[in-house]
Amino acid sequence: MSSIVTLTMNPAIDISTATQRVEPVSKLRCHDARRDPGGGGVNVARVANRLGGDVTAIYPIGGLVGQLFKQMVDEQGIKSVIVPLRDETREDFTVHDEATGQQYRFVLAGPQLSETEWKNCLAALAAIESKPQFVCASGSLPPGAPDDLYRRVAKIVAGWSSKFVLDTSGAALRSALREGVYLIKPNLQELRDLTNAPLADQAAMIGACRDLIGRGCCQVIALTLGAEGALLVTADRAWRAGPLPVIVVSTVGTGDSFLGGMVWALASGMTLEQSFRYAVAAGSAAVLAPGTELCKPQDVRRLSGQVTLEAASS
Ligand SMILES: Nc1ncnc2c1ncn2[C@@H]1O[C@H](COP(=O)(O)OP(=O)(O)OP(=O)(O)O)[C@@H](O)[C@H]1O
Ligand SMILES: [Mg+2]
Repeated sequence: MSSIVTLTMNPAIDISTATQRVEPVSKLRCHDARRDPGGGGVNVARVANRLGGDVTAIYPIGGLVGQLFKQMVDEQGIKSVIVPLRDETREDFTVHDEATGQQYRFVLAGPQLSETEWKNCLAALAAIESKPQFVCASGSLPPGAPDDLYRRVAKIVAGWSSKFVLDTSGAALRSALREGVYLIKPNLQELRDLTNAPLADQAAMIGACRDLIGRGCCQVIALTLGAEGALLVTADRAWRAGPLPVIVVSTVGTGDSFLGGMVWALASGMTLEQSFRYAVAAGSAAVLAPGTELCKPQDVRRLSGQVTLEAASS
């Protein structure tokens, strides 16, 4: 079995294209479309796989779109464990408006999962024979799945020697933290929602992270700050990574690239500090890639040497 297993409860085929100008009523003639298998966990799997990691992706799929999705994951050399769904897998649509440079992202809700279907996803994870080093769940929950789904995942993983890494928000995140996970990757808004605090400066951010860690919610928090870089906080250490001077082409997929870099580096045996460096490099490399494209490994390697880390204090 792979050293990294990802779980994607709400996968989607991401279609991205461009048009001259987005406006109502008239037909918007688009350029060629690019199709990628997406959804948080699958994106993390793709990044870790590109960087040389051994990854298995678990996800539910339905219909012809679902079959195409699995084929696209296969083509990338990622192993899949699929859970069949009655309803069709969703597609998301991103359009680059050439006149303004803006991106329009249309995200569909996705199929409604029955109780049997979401329980089958948990059973597929529980049935994995040789346990991975890392289980990484990323993304929102689909309609029909209960808010405590990631908490149930945390319970399964707690019985193994694996570490559970989680990137989600709102009630799904809050619920999982009651069980306890290894690492979470909120952005600033997600951490504000979680803690109900304004977190106006770095000291407040580190304080909020330490409070969560102190309460046993998690051991590590990678707080990403978009163009401002990121913070990595543990019970007794904190590092701040400044932003890298990259030319922003598209900020789609930065969070998933960051997490893919982090999990790949950790699974490769790197320290937290080194892994954080790769995570920031991967997030920054994603900014260089157009549309829904994720980071390129050569950019991650190049940028990893440029990340500056400072000890941060609360
Ligand atoms: N505009 C930017 N310029 C430079 N680096 C960026 C920029 N946006 C993101 N990054 C890099 O990517 C990392 C993750 O980005 P961000 O904090 O936006 O994640 P996120 O909000 O979870 O994104 P997503 O929308 O993909 O969920 C940041 O910590 C930073 O290293
Ligand atoms: Mg995110």
